Amino acid sequence: MITSKLPNVGTTIFTTMSQLAAETGALNLSQGFPDFNGPQALLDAVGQHVASGHNQYSPMTGLPALRQQVSTKIARSYGVSVDPDSEVTITPGATAAIFCAIQAVVRRGDEVIIFDPCYDSYAPSVELAGGRCVHVQLSLQRFALDFEKLKAALSPRTRMIVLNTPHNPTGALISRAELDQLADLIRDRDIYLLSDEVYEHLVFDGVPHVSVLAHAELYPRAFVVSSFGKTYHVTGWKTGYVVAPPALTAELRKVHQYVNFCCVTPLQFALADFMATHPQHVDALPAFYQAKRDLFCDLLAPSRLSFTRVAGTYFQLVDYSQIRPDLDDVAMSLWMTREHGVASIPISVFYQHPPQGQRLVRLCFAKREETLQQAAEKLCAI
Ligand SMILES: Cc1ncc(COP(=O)(O)O)c(C=O)c1O
Repeated sequence: MITSKLPNVGTTIFTTMSQLAAETGALNLSQGFPDFNGPQALLDAVGQHVASGHNQYSPMTGLPALRQQVSTKIARSYGVSVDPDSEVTITPGATAAIFCAIQAVVRRGDEVIIFDPCYDSYAPSVELAGGRCVHVQLSLQRFALDFEKLKAALSPRTRMIVLNTPHNPTGALISRAELDQLADLIRDRDIYLLSDEVYEHLVFDGVPHVSVLAHAELYPRAFVVSSFGKTYHVTGWKTGYVVAPPALTAELRKVHQYVNFCCVTPLQFALADFMATHPQHVDALPAFYQAKRDLFCDLLAPSRLSFTRVAGTYFQLVDYSQIRPDLDDVAMSLWMTREHGVASIPISVFYQHPPQGQRLVRLCFAKREETLQQAAEKLCAI
């Protein structure tokens, strides 16, 4: 008999729903990935680098040219300077960055505060480090940080707080005022931050992303994580990065060098080339995804789903209480996939204790216009 180190972990809902979508031929708006390709110049660059022999291990910290491009992008986006050598590390996806950051600082018996609903990789990473997650619920209406609850959750054992903005699965953004409030709250405490900002460039309605990188008081204690997969429409490349002050980066790299050592070399070359020649790619992303959000929401307007347009990410939450209030969200997602041909993600899976009576599922709108049209047609017919 194996005594599992992660007894509560099974197959993730993302795998389950994507498999069910494939089996039933449903449109897959469950897992978060585009059904369109990344930019042609980026794809072409991979082939060129493979052919020209860039196929061996890259430096452990990441290709220098790519770390430089990350630093340049950060300066352009947030007006702050990070040193590509001592503060930027390229990792196999944001997932590996999150795992390594947690292993680097969380010790046996430490507590880590995570906000529910939350992305599913944080808790297992904390448990493997021997830590304990303290779940704090975001507010039910706007999915905002609840500072009273956060204050009550802090303890002398709190080692880390995990933020995620723009937020998966709700699309909520953390404001500058909220970061200031957080800074006030933890000023005299020895607490690290992990800020998951993989959707940093997917923000809408002219509201800018507020990065922890640009918060002079919080950054010195933070690991800030992002994903080339999300930003360049290539989630299957599983390439991301983490930015942290030099002392934290040094600790993170001690873990990263034995978990991953390095990332796929020709992909790093291609990303570095593309970022150098297409710095405006990220400027176009808000409008690109806002148009998809608005198209999808306009098409869903006649349906019996109710929703508020999301502020960020490529996920739209929809409330189905006018359709099947009798079904919980897992049952609803299965029913919608099997009977109506659209796969979604129930948001209860992002909670330790899902709120009673919540009737929300998440739909991914990182899809071609025709996919969104077909999906909306099916959803309007329910
Ligand atoms: C909030 C959040 N963090 C991290 C990740 C993982 O990113 P990557 O694919 O780069 O590992 C995802 C992917 O869905 C995500 O939604």
